[in-house]
Amino acid sequence: MAHRTPRGRALITGATGQDGAFLAELLLAKGYAVHAFARRTSGSNLGRVAHLLDGSPGRERRYVLHHGDMTDTASLMRVLAEVQPDEIYNLAAQSHVAVSFDAPEDTANTDALGVVRLLEAVRTLGLTDRCRIYQASTSELFGASPPPQDETTPFRPCSPYGAAKVCAYWMGVTYREAYGLHLSNGIAFNHESPLRGDSFVTRKITRAVARIAAGEREVLRLGNLDAARDWAHARDVVDGMWRMLQQPAPDDYVLATGESHSVRSFVDHALDAAGLTIRWEGEGVEEVGVEPRSGRVLVAVDPSLFRPRETRGMRGDAGKARRVLGWAPRTSFAELVAEMVRADLAAVKSEGETVVSPGIPA
Ligand code: NAP
Ligand code: GDD
Repeated sequence: MAHRTPRGRALITGATGQDGAFLAELLLAKGYAVHAFARRTSGSNLGRVAHLLDGSPGRERRYVLHHGDMTDTASLMRVLAEVQPDEIYNLAAQSHVAVSFDAPEDTANTDALGVVRLLEAVRTLGLTDRCRIYQASTSELFGASPPPQDETTPFRPCSPYGAAKVCAYWMGVTYREAYGLHLSNGIAFNHESPLRGDSFVTRKITRAVARIAAGEREVLRLGNLDAARDWAHARDVVDGMWRMLQQPAPDDYVLATGESHSVRSFVDHALDAAGLTIRWEGEGVEEVGVEPRSGRVLVAVDPSLFRPRETRGMRGDAGKARRVLGWAPRTSFAELVAEMVRADLAAVKSEGETVVSPGIPA
């Protein structure tokens, strides 16, 4: 596949999130100047990108932080006018599906209206012809549509998050068709890494497994163990995002591995990676994961973690991305889980090694 020469300036919204961190690394390695659009908060939200801000010589000049918010039109206008980006990766979102049931208005404001604000800012500033846009769409668009899901599968979202992202998807298509904007929707299935937020199920599992392996008497409490997801590595997915913007014409692509695994299976793989095993016993809310030797319960079901509505099993067909973009995931499910467990084991070990002075709480 012939890629265009990198075009210079990339703006990443949601720069402080998991994908923002991986994408910045990728774009910096390709020679882009990366402009990060991030919220100014009272606490620090820059943990995943701190090394880019004060990194190796020369690097800091190519990674520039701008403060703004997808709910604040003026900040979008100001930063776009200043950066004049060649490529925009719109990753900013309230991205937690369960949270979206509790905060539907906030979710829609950022995930749906935020996209409208961004697209209108691009148009108003006369950037329509010069900049290309990646919109972070999601397999949650498909919701209740059964697997396998591809670009032709009907959208049947099952959550306020999914519904807001459907709106964003169609806004993108509308601006593409009405104004000729080079905007591509990446319909990404779940993707994970050691940088994954700790309230998503994979990272919640690998962090708990690491603590259990370190001897803590913890019970991992989970919701729906039967939920099935198509889990890729975030590093592979951000490569697909970049490939979309190198195409002469914009289009929409599914990014997925084509494999589906249950939450229960993720737990098994994570325990295995830490040298532990469990036996599953019971059914439904009574189901537990028991350590065979001691009989100790390591995993239990907590019904308060069930969602008001669940999607059908998720398994994507990324045939189009494979054919047109030359994209393929490189990390297997087992490798992904093992990498996350290794990282969390190392984190628990380094926490344990922290020297704490007597009387000073750690
Ligand atoms: P993430 O780790 O939750 O990061 C979300 C980012 O959005 C954070 O930087 C967050 O900033 C920022 N953000 C939230 N509200 C904002 C607002 N009002 N204004 C500006 N920034 C705001 O998500 P991710 O996993 O990297 O996902 C990236 C994108 O891909 C999201 O749009 C997500 O919905 C979508 N997606 C993700 C997956 C996946 O499996 N990871 C799959 C499909 C689609 P703070 O740090 O300040 O909170
Ligand atoms: N978070 C969480 N916590 N999920 C749990 C738990 C738990 O304790 N127990 C079971 N699950 C189940 C959820 O019900 C869901 O079916 C599945 O595990 C995955 O949940 P999450 O990891 O929260 O991810 P998600 O699939 O809902 O959403 C993620 O992927 C989407 C792409 O399909 C997010 O990254 C979204 O932003 C993204 O669009």
